[in-house]
Amino acid sequence: MPANYAEEYARSLEDREGFWADAARAVDWFEAPQQVLDASGAPFYRWYPDGVTNSCHNALDRHVAAGRGADAALIYESPATDHRRVLSFGELLDEVTRFAGALRGLGVERGDRVLIYMPMIPETAVAMLACARLGAIHSVVFGGFAAKELATRIDDAKPKVVLSASCGIEVDRIVPYKPLLDGAIEIADAKPERCVVLQRPQHPAELIPGRDLDWEEVRAAGSPVDCVPVASTDPLYVLYTSGTTGVPKGVVRDNGGHLVALTWSLRHIYGVEPGEVWWAASDIGWVVGHSYIVYGPLFLGCASILFEGKPVGTPDAGVYWRTIERNKVAALFTAPTAIRAIKREDPSGEFVKQSDLTAFRTLFLAGERADPDTIQWAEGILGVPVIDHWWQTETGWPVAANCMGLGPLPVKRGSPTKPVPGYSVRVVDEGGDPVPAGTSGNIVLDLPLPPGCLPTLWNNDEGYVRSYLEQFPGCYATGDAGHIDEDGYLYVMGRTDDIINVAGHRLSTGAMEEVLSGHPDVAECAVIGVADSLKGQVPVGFAVLKAGAGRAHTEVEAELVQKVRSEIGPVAAFKQARVVARLPKTRSGKVLRGTMRKMADGERFSVPATIDDPAILDEIQEVLDQL
Ligand code: COA
Ligand code: AMP
Repeated sequence: MPANYAEEYARSLEDREGFWADAARAVDWFEAPQQVLDASGAPFYRWYPDGVTNSCHNALDRHVAAGRGADAALIYESPATDHRRVLSFGELLDEVTRFAGALRGLGVERGDRVLIYMPMIPETAVAMLACARLGAIHSVVFGGFAAKELATRIDDAKPKVVLSASCGIEVDRIVPYKPLLDGAIEIADAKPERCVVLQRPQHPAELIPGRDLDWEEVRAAGSPVDCVPVASTDPLYVLYTSGTTGVPKGVVRDNGGHLVALTWSLRHIYGVEPGEVWWAASDIGWVVGHSYIVYGPLFLGCASILFEGKPVGTPDAGVYWRTIERNKVAALFTAPTAIRAIKREDPSGEFVKQSDLTAFRTLFLAGERADPDTIQWAEGILGVPVIDHWWQTETGWPVAANCMGLGPLPVKRGSPTKPVPGYSVRVVDEGGDPVPAGTSGNIVLDLPLPPGCLPTLWNNDEGYVRSYLEQFPGCYATGDAGHIDEDGYLYVMGRTDDIINVAGHRLSTGAMEEVLSGHPDVAECAVIGVADSLKGQVPVGFAVLKAGAGRAHTEVEAELVQKVRSEIGPVAAFKQARVVARLPKTRSGKVLRGTMRKMADGERFSVPATIDDPAILDEIQEVLDQL
């Protein structure tokens, strides 16, 4: 295969099926697919519809069968607990086959859902792979979400079993998971039959007799099981992500397309080879963790680092570089916010100078816009290419990137470079017409999406069409806005909906507004994302109180902050709420959130002609100035 981006890209669209048929040869099938793409149910597309495979087999068994059983597969680095553990492919396979047997003993079969609410420990990856082995569908929920968010996901996924741990560790703070899990199950309608809880020594939990089981006991009772052959189109997992309302969307991932696309991406986008050490410093609860901590690197046969810690504070801003040195990491993928956090504590890169980074080739950034200053700083201290790339939970793997395995293109800071092979990316206006180069608009992807992207939403085909396909017929609407320049470089500048990106975490301001509206004294409210030099954006809430509420504003403001923390979770980073007399609105009653955001960020804005009362803007500006 020629290592040439332009040729590969052209072929991926001109001979789509040939391109993906070739890529499919890099993975193991129990029954090789005869058909590459089934478009008969368009706009629902199915990749490798008659293929039969198993994702766990491709992550583990095949490498052990190829004689790589003793090679490192998962490297657990936990500065949070001062632990390090290396699991070889053989050891990981043993753990997974046994735990899969244990799950089967609890009645988990192909197609059943298993919800995983766990911290960054090897058992979380074992749990995911054990589900994959059985053909069960896992749904991992990020630990920073509170009970109510967890309950919403339990009700949608209806898991037979929930897997959890007694606690997570946030720098020096223990986060007990069990009360959150118990609270969620109490609220949820779909009660799981069983909860299996891993007891961590830092904070063991009390188990509820009859429902809760001890992880170690369950594991010990499991006898190893073989991989269950699954259809390529069978769901591997459901991952919930923020939509524009309080109801999260259950993004479905299939087995076959995901397997092929991720395997292809590691080599061609990230430029790594089997046997190399790869590190995605994210959380397993996000898509980055699914694709690039667990599945992708193991599919290709890399060693993957599972890091329980933070870029700063565990214990200092040198931990990333020491981890790279100790493990001879070839490439790191993290969010720009992590680099900004390091830069803030170690502006001249002293820790980098103390580390031997000779094995380190590339830093990849995604999850939020990578600002040119951060890229330039990282390039300067590291002396390696810093590659911004763009994708989303829905796509599961990069849409735009500088493909390191296909011959790197010149970097333009501020741009994630060009569309990755397989994706046809365009920028269109509100009517769906293409805009000229350099003009901002909606970023859309032409259908069909390549393998690995979501085939639909969990139990919600109609929601899939409504959310992504209706606005621009024939296209998938990414919800992102930006432009493509004269050279074909893409620039992703922000969202077109009310999703914000806080420290690389995707959150819905709509969901936060729903929480504020639930406060008994709040008549109406608005939440906007305001630019933040560390986290990219942070949410700020404005509330108008009901007439006669008669409460001290500071009291209500504190209650609102606490309400978002306890209903959505600490990850929302909702720390600022202000009571205001009125919200700026159009004459038809629409709150002018976009105008408020521009005012908060100090951007130029024009007073909308449709505004009800322009004087309100002065009042809002006064409040913003005090933040
Ligand atoms: N379980 C429980 N609580 C969690 C959590 C988890 N898994 N993850 C985060 N939280 C809590 C944090 O403790 C924090 O709580 P606090 O308000 O009491 O301090 C809150 O949620 C916000 O967390 P976070 O956004 O991570 O901010 P932070 O101030 O703790 O750290 C950074 C700031 C920049 C160091 C951190 O955001 C970071 O490392 N980001 C990397 C980005 C990343 O991994 N993105 C994933 C997509 S690629
Ligand atoms: P998530 O689904 O959590 O991965 O978040 C996806 C969203 O994060 C995208 O739709 C973008 O809004 C934003 N995003 C991710 N990567 C980038 C990037 N490299 N540049 C700009 N925005 C990004």
